[in-house]
Amino acid sequence: MTTLVKPAQPIGIFDSGIGGLTVAKAITKLLPNEKIIYFGDTAHMPYGEKSADAIKHYSIKIAEFLKYKNCKMIVIACNTASAAGYKAVVKHTGMKDLIVNVIDPAADYVVKHFYRKKIGVIATKRTVSSNVYAKRIARLDSVTDVVQLATPLLAPMIEEGFYNNKISQTIINSYLSKSKLNTIDALILGCTHYPLIKNEIQKFYGKKVAVVDSSEVVAQYVKTVLEKHGLLNPGTKFGLGKADRQFYVSDYTQSFEESSKIFFDEKVKLKQFNIWED
Ligand code: DGL
Repeated sequence: MTTLVKPAQPIGIFDSGIGGLTVAKAITKLLPNEKIIYFGDTAHMPYGEKSADAIKHYSIKIAEFLKYKNCKMIVIACNTASAAGYKAVVKHTGMKDLIVNVIDPAADYVVKHFYRKKIGVIATKRTVSSNVYAKRIARLDSVTDVVQLATPLLAPMIEEGFYNNKISQTIINSYLSKSKLNTIDALILGCTHYPLIKNEIQKFYGKKVAVVDSSEVVAQYVKTVLEKHGLLNPGTKFGLGKADRQFYVSDYTQSFEESSKIFFDEKVKLKQFNIWED
């Protein structure tokens, strides 16, 4: 595979909805020459409530689509799909380390910066039940204490545009007040939708707890892998054209289009493409 891949090819990025745009934004900020193709599987959102088998199936199908679109790398910009589908996508595509998940870079980061501290994770039900963060962190350091809390209302709430308002702050406060999360030193935002409510979460904790948004860590990891394979796009003197950032959704939603404007300066033109219809 690697021999045929060229630096000018796009990076494919996917999530169940708008969450992965937090990762896409961090990647385009760090690597402005990179073309991206984004896929939001809004027809199946929220992934957090689906079975691991269903998520595996969706992830493989989306990865096939991105590979067909000639992507040189695929970033699974969703913790739930990273937990349930990463291995299957690696196996199915044969793209090895050019398939990037969002959990490994985050686990590396917390072990490095919060060694042997108490780490909290908030994530979807599926991610929490997979225990993936606790397992990955334990592999790096068996003493770090990891506590996890499923926060299933948050991703649909954000997807519907409810953030930075009274309703979102009330729901966030109610989750974060659970005794399980008492005395943590750092909190991993274990869902790519949550950076959109990072300020509200930080407001709850004040300076007592470090809130870890892994999108920048993932972008840095993407850069390292591309460098390693000689696949960083050097760009051209013409810069990027409109067609170099493409956004697909499996089901059109108004809130996706509106929220996506928050991330990218230019108006995001959504293309609806239902990959589930054969
Ligand atoms: N953004 C996704 C994640 O990181 C999940 C949201 C959903 O439940 O679809 O887990």
